[in-house]
Parts: sequence; C-alpha cells; structure tokens
Amino acid sequence: MSEAASVRVQGLSRRFGTVTALNGVGFTAPAGELTCLIGPSGCGKTTLLRLIAGLDAPSEGAIEIDGQDVTRLSPAQRGAGMVFQSYALFPNMTVEANISYGMKRGLSAREMSARVDQLLETVGLPGLNHRLPNALSGGQQQRVAIARALAPDPRILLLDEPLAALDPQIRERLRVELKSLQHRLGVTTIMVTHDQEEALAIADRIVVMRAGRIEQADPPETVYNLPASAFVAGFVGAANVIPATVSAPGQIQLFGVRSLAAATADFAIGASVTVCVRPEAVRLEQGEGRGVSARIVARQFAGATQKLEAALEGVARARVSLEVPADRPAPPIGALVHLDFPADRLRLFPGAEASAVSAQDEVAWT
Ligand SMILES: Nc1ncnc2c1ncn2[C@@H]1O[C@H](COP(=O)(O)OP(=O)(O)O)[C@@H](O)[C@H]1O
Ligand SMILES: [Mg+2]
Repeated sequence: MSEAASVRVQGLSRRFGTVTALNGVGFTAPAGELTCLIGPSGCGKTTLLRLIAGLDAPSEGAIEIDGQDVTRLSPAQRGAGMVFQSYALFPNMTVEANISYGMKRGLSAREMSARVDQLLETVGLPGLNHRLPNALSGGQQQRVAIARALAPDPRILLLDEPLAALDPQIRERLRVELKSLQHRLGVTTIMVTHDQEEALAIADRIVVMRAGRIEQADPPETVYNLPASAFVAGFVGAANVIPATVSAPGQIQLFGVRSLAAATADFAIGASVTVCVRPEAVRLEQGEGRGVSARIVARQFAGATQKLEAALEGVARARVSLEVPADRPAPPIGALVHLDFPADRLRLFPGAEASAVSAQDEVAWT
C-alpha cells in the first residue's frame, strides 16, 4: 500500500444554484483511520465525498491530502479509490477485468494477474477471477468493487454507503470485514453511511453532519456519551429529548412541571433548555416517593433488554423511553412506576430543540 495520508478540509462550501449543499465544512480524517460521515438524507455527505475525490469542485474552501493542497488537482492526481452504493461494476467484464481496469499502466500481464489474485484474497473472494458480476451475490459484488478501488494502490479510500443495498445480515458481516480490512491495510478511509449504528460499530471517528454543516467530529464513544447538541444525541443512538426550564440553581423542571436535580451552572435561572437522556440511563424505581411518576404504555422485548415507554402522569403527551435488562421483571403495560433521572446522565443544551429530532426518535424506536 501507499503510505497512509491524512485528509483535511477547510471552509468547504458547495452551492448548486440556490441550494447550499455544503456550508463552511472543516474536519480532519487522520492518516490510517476510518472516518464515518453520517447525517440525514440531503445533508451533503455525497457532495463532500465527491469534492474530496475531485469529481466536483467547491464554491469555496480547500482540501489537503497529506498536507498538500489538492483542491485544483484532477481525481487521478489525488490518488483516491472510490466505491459507491450501487455496485457499478462493468457488467460485461469478468471480475478480473473489472479489478484490473484501474491498475497502474506499465504492469505486465503476469504482474496484473498476480495483483488481482492478491486483491481477491484480500477481500475474501479467491478464485472468482473469471465470474461475471451477475453471477455474484450483492455482497460479493461490493467486495469486488472494494478490490477494484484498492487496485491502483490509493492513498485514500472513499466509500459512499457501500453496504446500504445489502440485506441486514450480510451488511453486518461485511461491515466487520470492511473494518478489519481497513485496519489491516492501514488505508485512510472516509465512509458515508446513513446508519448510525454502523458508524458507532466501526468508525475511529464520526463526523455528524446536518444541513451542510458539521455538528460534531469525535470518536464514537464521545459522540454517544457527550453529544455536542440535542440533534446529535437524537441522531446517534436512541435519546429522550425533553423540553425543560431551569427553575433554580441545580434544578430543572421537566416538561415545565416535574422538578429534577441537574447540572445547571451554564444556564441562567428561567432559561429554556433541552434535556437529553439515553433510555438506558433512566432508572425504574420500585415503590413510592422517589422520582417522577409515570405509567407504562408500551413494552418491547429486545433480547438482552426490554424497551419500555412511559407516559408521565398528568402531563399531556410527555413520553419517556427507557431500557431495562431483560433478566429483571419489567412492569406490565398500565403499571404505575417511578422514574429516576440521574443528574450525571442528563445533558442540557440551550433552547428548545426537541421538535428538530422528534422524527429521528420515532425511527429509533420502531
Ligand atoms: N448536482 C446537483 N445539482 C443540484 N443540487 C444538488 C446536486 N447534488 C446535490 N444537490 C443537493 O445538495 C444537497 C446535498 O445532497 P447530497 O450531498 O447528495 O446529500 P446526502 O448524500 O447527504 O444525502 C441536496 O439538497 C441535494 O438535492
Ligand atoms: Mg448521498
């Protein structure tokens, strides 16, 4: 492989007529790491990847690969390998011909064929040299597409939803293989996915995008545990996103009514805030007295856990999702319970942002 190269973009914007697809984006993909770009459909992920590959030019801003400004270089000069969601193999060419297609000129037929064998070994498809694409499964076709992208020995690998068209089980297996391949080759990789679970599972760093901007760029653990905004909390993993007000130092009123302890030092008394709390952080208290009273309205068995939904007593449409270990008895639907919200698991953000992420919450709970 080529030496791994870092990718740095700065102040990158791309406008299409009146549409601003990217609006001053900046981040670094460190050398040898797997960086995942995630965000809702239309937020600019593909546009960003195409700009890095050199398939499109920015309205403003710069792209560096390994410290070199490549903004004005052709795709070939940048040394990026690319894989798209649709397999995009040449249908009338064998696997071997597909993989050889982009190889460096000047290799002998024997060298090319040895390299094809090596790449097929790398992606776990030894011996399939003479198959045509339509004689391969979707997962196999995507592996060939990855082998083809690796054939010219790229400095960086750019993947646009490479697993999105595959069945869930194959997708899950292939993402583990992709990660171990990426790690083994040490090739700097930027991968777009709309699947936040996939990003959490395999990324070294996650870049969360929203409407042409970056909301957060951090390792998965940080994005999950310390989301930079209510949007990120709602988009990555399941989260309760609850409107609240700061009622006193160290006190908030959830949904404007239920008093709770919280770290409020960053906010003025009376400020509107958005509280984010993961379902697994909400504690179910047995017995009276503690916490907020609520009624169980839905229950889902999820293997290792039970997912519950509780409606707060006396507050219209105030729902809270929680998750409890499945080996403990969970209250039945209709049961009156008490919920505790540990202060150290509450994340407070300025303003009332709940509506912006509610659609995503629904997705997370179906
Ligand atoms: N060639 C184009 N012409 C006009 N608008 C475009 C073009 N490419 C992308 N867009 C717009 O830019 C925005 C971002 O698109 P895209 O980067 O494809 O999003 P994503 O990959 O995150 O779903 C969308 O509003 C899309 O309609
Ligand atoms: Mg896209």
